[in-house]
Amino acid sequence: MTMVEAAPVISDRELTAIIKLVYDKSGITLHDGKKALVVARLQKRLRAGGFRSFGDYLRVVETDPSGEELTGLLDAMATNHTSFFREAQHFEILRDRVLPEWRARGGAGFEMWSAACSSGEEPYTLGMTLADTMTEAEIGRARILASDMSTKALGKARPGVYPMERVADLPREVLRRHFEKGLGAQAGLARVGAHVRRLVTFEQRNLLEVGDVGRRFDVIFCRNVMIYFDRAVQQRVVSMLERHLAPRGYLFISHSESLNGVAHGLQWVAPAVYMRRPA
Ligand SMILES: C[S@@+](CC[C@H](N)C(=O)[O-])C[C@H]1O[C@@H](n2cnc3c(N)ncnc32)[C@H](O)[C@@H]1O
Repeated sequence: MTMVEAAPVISDRELTAIIKLVYDKSGITLHDGKKALVVARLQKRLRAGGFRSFGDYLRVVETDPSGEELTGLLDAMATNHTSFFREAQHFEILRDRVLPEWRARGGAGFEMWSAACSSGEEPYTLGMTLADTMTEAEIGRARILASDMSTKALGKARPGVYPMERVADLPREVLRRHFEKGLGAQAGLARVGAHVRRLVTFEQRNLLEVGDVGRRFDVIFCRNVMIYFDRAVQQRVVSMLERHLAPRGYLFISHSESLNGVAHGLQWVAPAVYMRRPA
């Protein structure tokens, strides 16, 4: 007879402690309506780690000096959904407005930051847009920093290899120019071309812990992450991003997000697009 072990039960106190920990460390607010989802994801984590109870699990998350279990918890709670050319209008604004303005100013280094890059589709799309628009000399002066708090997402992003279904809906021309089709053991996979991959540098960064990245950006994409934050965390993150924008630098958020109720000095230029005023 096969014995099926019952999933560990979580107490209200333990659930509250986990929700607080996730909020404190990542800014992600887990609403009450998400309780079933949170518990299901946590139970999966407990099974994977061989924990017998939520109490045992919480103790390790809170005391593990490597921080690995905490990272795993945050990974399990974050939504990593993304896609190539998501909210495509933003890449058109980059091509038709931001890059020509930059060129008109003399086109020194062009710095971009994809600040919650998930599995890499967003920064690679930025790279493809630059590759399609810039001259060779300009490309040589362009850099894309791509960061996320999730080591799991970054592990998928770095190689730039995706299942064919993730790119199947892209126009043929984009596929031809910017992807290599896997052959043999790599069949069914597509890799972002080296000319795009080399523009992007991935780093693990938690938006709540960024002090100073050490440079100012002409463009920051921070999309579909603030939607998980409450106003207080949004305020913290937007102030930090604003500090990192060069004068006339652009901040792109998602069309499903808004800066209503967040104090900032940015100028609205298009839906979900803001510009830092010239110095
Ligand atoms: C839904 S994805 C958005 C990906 C991409 N920007 C897009 O719009 O398609 C949200 C990402 O935010 C990341 N994230 C959540 N909280 C974060 C934080 N405090 N610091 C950095 N990244 C965070 C998650 O790991 C996840 O990869």
